[in-house]
Amino acid sequence: MARFSNGLDHVRRRALAVDLLAAVDADALQDSAFARTRRLVAGLDVVDVMAGIARPVPVGVLAEALGLPDVSADVVPVAAAYHPHVEPGAAAEAALTRLLAVCGGPTELAAARIGLLVQACDATAGLIGNGLLAARHGKPAEQPVLATRRRIDGADVTVSLAGTPFGAGPRACPGSRHAVALAAGVLEALHGFRLTETEISWVPAPNLRMPAVLLVTRG
Ligand code: HEM
Repeated sequence: MARFSNGLDHVRRRALAVDLLAAVDADALQDSAFARTRRLVAGLDVVDVMAGIARPVPVGVLAEALGLPDVSADVVPVAAAYHPHVEPGAAAEAALTRLLAVCGGPTELAAARIGLLVQACDATAGLIGNGLLAARHGKPAEQPVLATRRRIDGADVTVSLAGTPFGAGPRACPGSRHAVALAAGVLEALHGFRLTETEISWVPAPNLRMPAVLLVTRG
């Protein structure tokens, strides 16, 4: 992945990701995210936004826009395991093997496609979860990703993102417009749903600030 590469490897791998995203229309993502969310909640009275919508919808919509089938069920376990400090389990390895097959085999282009999907997964879910909480509580949304990791000379280094939710400089997030569009489409489709709980459980990861579970109901 570009994210954990340096020097010319970073430049080349980032360019692959940027080119793939350049072919994706952000407005169309918003419309698809709206429609997909509406389909998912149709007929449901209570839904956990985080597991049921905020991860699978953005990933599924982005996959479709990249010309791939809905691989969100395989992206979710890989997204939980791709950070360099995490030891991936057998389920994540198996999911990655399937993703590689769908994305065209073990090439840098396939890695760029998978990289987009896994980086869209938790971070965009955070935008959605925090956006929903903020709208219901009438407060500004919290930044979901608080720190990022880089690999420098073989060592993992943590970099704070305070005040720059999409990063900055040569590694700034190339998916920010797409992420905001996806989140906007989902949130629009959840108008009319309210939170069922007053106590929010947050994901335990120190670099993320987003709800673990967010139950909503109609009315
Ligand atoms: C459609 C959704 C998204 C896609 C496709 C995407 C894609 C990417 C990619 C490919 C990179 C690596 C850039 C590089 O190495 O040069 C990246 C970096 C980054 N993304 Fe995103 N991203 C998405 C959503 C988000 C969201 C919602 C956030 C936070 C609110 C976010 C925050 C970041 C940050 C902070 C970095 C920089 C990491 C660093 O400096 O090491 N991304 N993203």
